[in-house]
Amino acid sequence: MQPSRESPIASLQQLQQQAWAILQTDSQKPGDVFYTGTLGTQSGSGVSLRTVVVREVNALEKTISCYSDKRASKIQEIETNSSVSFLFWDSERKIQLRLSGTATIHTTDILAEGHWQQTSPSNRRSYLAIPAPGSFQSEPTSGLPEGLDTREPTQEESEQGRFNFAVIVTRIQQMDWLHLAKSGHRRAMFRYEAGELAEASWVIP
Ligand SMILES: Cc1cc2nc3c(=O)[nH]c(=O)nc-3n(C[C@H](O)[C@H](O)[C@H](O)COP(=O)(O)O)c2cc1C
Repeated sequence: MQPSRESPIASLQQLQQQAWAILQTDSQKPGDVFYTGTLGTQSGSGVSLRTVVVREVNALEKTISCYSDKRASKIQEIETNSSVSFLFWDSERKIQLRLSGTATIHTTDILAEGHWQQTSPSNRRSYLAIPAPGSFQSEPTSGLPEGLDTREPTQEESEQGRFNFAVIVTRIQQMDWLHLAKSGHRRAMFRYEAGELAEASWVIP
């Protein structure tokens, strides 16, 4: 089914399929609204939010994957509490999606290796900082090895990032869909069990 920009209100089943289809399509294309989202984790001092690039959406399994340096705070936060949330807002379609679920971290397994093989040397720069992300410095710096601020790493140099590379896979258990309209806002909640729709209901926005 093609995601429609004109008629977002459909039956509950169609509506959640449409939402997943849009998420899946947008995550493939830089610049599309759901290419990036806000990932929320629980931290010692409260809730921690940050923008991430959505690397893969599996609409059948109801999973959302993103990448991180494994030394980043979000990884420790997920290891302590695997309950996470994603927030997306499509200002054109006027749709907000709030998805929550359980995240797992992959660093050395076949899944992580498969994703690593898909990354370009340029993208691998994100995992090449010598001091850990979040570590305090006396001067503004990317922390990258000499010269890599201004040039792409070679394939060989980029391999150094493999050790720091992590894939965060979130299995979604709940989706809160909200559509804003002058004719009346609409909201629906969906609950998933092992990737299957287990419950769906309209909700007062
Ligand atoms: C547009 C944009 C996309 C980003 N994508 C990612 C990403 O895919 N993965 C990531 O770890 N950080 C990404 N970041 C940086 C994070 O927002 C955040 O600053 C960083 O990961 C440190 O967060 P943490 O300390 O909570 O781990 C992105 C930032 C922006 C502005």
